[in-house]
Formats: sequence, C-alpha cells, structure tokens
Amino acid sequence: MSALRTNSVRTTVILPAAGTGTRFGAALPKQFVPLLDVPIIVRTLQIFEQTPAIDAVVIAASPDFHDHITALKEQFHLQKIVAVVEGGKERQDSILNALKTSVCAASDIVLVHDAVRPMITPEFIATIVEAAAIHGAAVPGLVPKETIKECRVEAEGGVTVQTTHERSRLRAIQTPQGFRRELLLAAYHKAHESGFLGTDDASVVEFAGFSVAVVPGLEENIKITTPLDFRWAEWLLRSVATA
Ligand code: C5P
Repeated sequence: MSALRTNSVRTTVILPAAGTGTRFGAALPKQFVPLLDVPIIVRTLQIFEQTPAIDAVVIAASPDFHDHITALKEQFHLQKIVAVVEGGKERQDSILNALKTSVCAASDIVLVHDAVRPMITPEFIATIVEAAAIHGAAVPGLVPKETIKECRVEAEGGVTVQTTHERSRLRAIQTPQGFRRELLLAAYHKAHESGFLGTDDASVVEFAGFSVAVVPGLEENIKITTPLDFRWAEWLLRSVATA
C-alpha cells in the first residue's frame, strides 16, 4: 500500500486510561505517574502527536481526572486530543464510550492503545494503521521467549500442567491494535449484547467472527504494569536519549 493511501484515511486513536492501578505506591493511577519527569500518558500521547498517520486522539478516563488531563494537554501542547470521555467499569466499556464520539464516527481507522505503553514509535504506529486498512483488523505480536503451558488451577490452589503449546504458533499481543472503524463498532455492539468480556480489543473482534492479522511487535513496547517495568522503561528512555 502506498503512503499516499494511508495518509488519505482518517485515523483516530482511543486511549483507555480509566484504570485505577496504583501499584507503584503513588497517589495517582500508574498512567499519570511521571516517568523521567514526564507523566507516562503524556509520553504516550507525544508519540501520537509526532505521527503524521494519526489525526485525533480520544481518551477514556475517570471524571475525577478530566481536569487533570485538560491541564496536561495545555502544559504539554497536546493538539490531537479532541475528546475526553468517561471511562467505564470494564476496559471494554471505556472503549465503547470512546467509539460513540463524533470523531470516531467520522474515522476510517481506529487504533486502540494502552496509555501505559509509551515505548512506541511513529513508524511502528504507521505500520499498524496500514495493516488495519488492508486487513480490517491488525495487531502487533511477538513470539514468546518462554515456553507457554496451559495449566489446570485446582480448587485448593495447586497448579498442574495440562498441555504445552508449540511456541512458534504463539504470539504475545501488544497495542496499538488497529481496526476499520465499522468492523470494531459492530464487534463491540455484538460483545455488549452477549455480555462477552475479552482482555484486548482483538478478542472482541475475534468473538464477533472477524479475522485478525498479526504483524511483528516491538520488543521495547512494554506495558508498564509493575515497579520493575517502570525501572526498565526508565533505563530504555535513558539509553535512547544517550544513543
Ligand atoms: O487493566 P489493564 O492494565 O489491562 O488496563 C489496560 C488499559 O486499560 C490501561 O490503560 C487502563 O487505564 C485502561 N482501563 C480503562 N477502563 C477500565 C480499566 C482499564 O480505560 N475500566
């Protein structure tokens, strides 16, 4: 696909940021915690600001943080944020609220990206947009380094291996995940009606019966979840700055 065709599609990013995780012992949910002086969510947003393939950003967040996001938007000159919507009880509810905005309704492609994954690049994002336009649904994935075993968790808490999956057929899936807007909306409506809850957007699309293409993931695109991930992200950012 030519760069011209990718640039002619309107692409909006949904950033679910309504989680309440405060595992760093901070007063703020982890997406608002500063990483080398800049909040994690701002670092993520700055990459989308620098990506020509992205036109707009919609953030789903708890109303308690809407003023905070508005302040960050002004402080860091984040020009692509066009809407901040209320987060839902589940991540899926947050995405559905964002999908209902007029900016999403006017988009050809919708990307969904975890606010807590700031280690992406404009080139990587452009690859997902392009793959979503071609395939309808596209996600980045890496072959796991570890051997993955499916286990049986016993009632008393013991864990026994049930089966070992062939590693070459497995992928650890990341975000951004990209979709043609009407396909994602149809999948979300179907999941909502059926009460299906998935752990990522692709699983909602799979549930609705659509196929999802997998493109190569980015090793440094870590999801900052634990204090160790946070240290790892600091180290990666420092090494990029001194490279
Ligand atoms: O809970 P988990 O770490 O999988 O959350 C992934 C992303 O989804 C985070 O950016 C989090 O803020 C967001 N989220 C949300 N609404 C929820 C739960 C999580 O927007 N109800």
